[in-house]
Amino acid sequence: MHYRIMMALVMAGMCYSSPVWAKQAKAVIAGTAPDSKITGEVILTDKDDGLEVEATVDNLSPGKHGFHIHEHGSCDEQGKAAGGHFNPDHAQHGYVPKDGLTKAHPGDMGNLEAGPDGKATVKVFLKGASLAEGHYGVMGKAVIVHENEDDFSQPTGNAGGRIGCGIIQ
Ligand code: CU
Ligand code: ZN
Repeated sequence: MHYRIMMALVMAGMCYSSPVWAKQAKAVIAGTAPDSKITGEVILTDKDDGLEVEATVDNLSPGKHGFHIHEHGSCDEQGKAAGGHFNPDHAQHGYVPKDGLTKAHPGDMGNLEAGPDGKATVKVFLKGASLAEGHYGVMGKAVIVHENEDDFSQPTGNAGGRIGCGIIQ
C-alpha cells in the first residue's frame, strides 16, 4: 500500500477514535449462576437526546424478564453487588419510554421477552440517559436480567433474582 494512503487511513482512524466520550458501549451479559447458560449482548448508542439500547439474550426461560440498569458496575454475589436501580433523582420505578425520567429510573427498560427457544431481543430508547459522564451517565454500571417479569410495581418491579449481568463499557 502507498505510504500516503496508509498515513491518511491512520489519521482518519485517530480522528474517529478520539471523540469527547464514547458514542457506543456494550455490556456482555453472562449468567450469574455457575451453571447458567445465559449469554447476551447489549449495545448502547448515544443519540442527541438519549440512549438507544439494543439487546439480545439467549438461553432464558420462556417469558418475561425484568431488564434494568443498576447503580454499581459489579456482577459479583450473583448480581447483588450491582446494588439497586440506577436512580439519581430518587424517582419511582417505571418504564422510561412510557413514564419518562420524572416517573421512572433512567435504566428502567421494562422486560425482555424470551420465546420458546429462550431467545429475547429488545430495542428500547432511554430518553435523557447518556454514555457521557454526568447525572444520567450509565457508563460502567451494570445491566441486570431478572428471573421474573417486571410488573412495574414499586419500588423496583418485583422481578426477583438476578440471573444475568453485564457491565456497560
Ligand atoms: Cu433490576
Ligand atoms: Zn427502576
